[in-house]
Amino acid sequence: MAKVSLFWSFLTLTFLFASISECSDEIGIYELKRGDFSLKLTNWGATVMSVILPDRNGKLDDVVLGFDTPKEYMNDTVYFGALVGRVANRIANAEFTLDGKVYKLVANEGKNTLHGGLMGFSDVVWTVESHKVDSHITFTYNSYDGEQGFPGNLSVMVTYMFLGTNKLGIKMEAKAPNKATPVNLAHHGYWNLRGHNSGDILSQKLQIFGSSVTPVDKNLIPTGKIVPVKGTPYDFLASHEIGSLINELPDGYDINYVLDKSNPAHLRRAALMQDPVSGRKMELWTNQPGLQFYSSNMLHNVKGKDGAVYHKFAAVALETQGFPNSVNQPNFPSQIINPGEKYLHVMVYRFTAD
Ligand SMILES: *[C@@H]1O[C@H](CO)[C@@H](O)[C@H](O)[C@H]1NC(C)=O
Ligand SMILES: *[C@@H]1O[C@H](CO)[C@@H](O)[C@H](O)[C@H]1NC(C)=O
Repeated sequence: MAKVSLFWSFLTLTFLFASISECSDEIGIYELKRGDFSLKLTNWGATVMSVILPDRNGKLDDVVLGFDTPKEYMNDTVYFGALVGRVANRIANAEFTLDGKVYKLVANEGKNTLHGGLMGFSDVVWTVESHKVDSHITFTYNSYDGEQGFPGNLSVMVTYMFLGTNKLGIKMEAKAPNKATPVNLAHHGYWNLRGHNSGDILSQKLQIFGSSVTPVDKNLIPTGKIVPVKGTPYDFLASHEIGSLINELPDGYDINYVLDKSNPAHLRRAALMQDPVSGRKMELWTNQPGLQFYSSNMLHNVKGKDGAVYHKFAAVALETQGFPNSVNQPNFPSQIINPGEKYLHVMVYRFTAD
């Protein structure tokens, strides 16, 4: 019931905002604020720079990792807060075949393509299509035919919006006007509910509503298998501390969960993260089939905002998505968008503290 009403309030709000418009292409910082809940964003990469939330005593903290200025995001190699695409996660050997044609992409992680290539959607200037501080911001980007090797134009629209007093919605849409293309957008926030500069997240609790994962090979490419998590360190079906079994893994968590489906008319419940110290709690719903859980294994001495230095396990990324490398994996749900079709990806976060 709650899930249905969330979804509908979301669509209605978007419709209302379609009429408000103020366009800009300069790189800037934009605020969203509703009471104690506020965000800063930049149109460089359609990036979320900060998310300020009260703890159980009303103390405010910034709960996402990031930098102070948009300029620093241009040097970013870890995708802090970014909107990634055209195809999030990895494409094996930087190539795929579509309608009998082989497409060669820009490889940016060994032989593979990660998060759309060397200059993916996180490394371009988006247009601010519409912005209202107490409600939403909409970014648009027109990707050209051949950009990073992908076929066809793609027009992309991303809206970050408040839903009520404590929910944040992200709506990602895309259309391919002239050629079929794979599309898999993702929001790459790095969450630490105790505060971005509070140390590691190992004692924070996580629940993931996915009974299986898509295991990967040594290059982090899915093998194509879908394997139950029960009895493995990947089992987060019941909430528990993120660090409790992390040492059983060679390098921490970096894997795609297959989210359990309840009712196809509802958004899927994806994850619940809780910090016992601050009392902050974050719930996440989506219409996507997968969730990448990444425990920031590759963060090493990254100089962030307010003088913070971020290390391994400083945050978790919970990226709702299509399955990685789907374009080369016929048993995974297709990510191909044909002309006339619309890609739609919805995320709804609910934040509380008690
Ligand atoms: C970006 O990186 C270059 C090379 O490491 C450095 O010289 C420059 O100061 C960095 N820019 C910012 C804004 O951090
Ligand atoms: C594709 O994008 C180019 C600009 O990169 C534009 O000139 C062209 O009109 C677009 N085609 C379609 C069908 O949208």
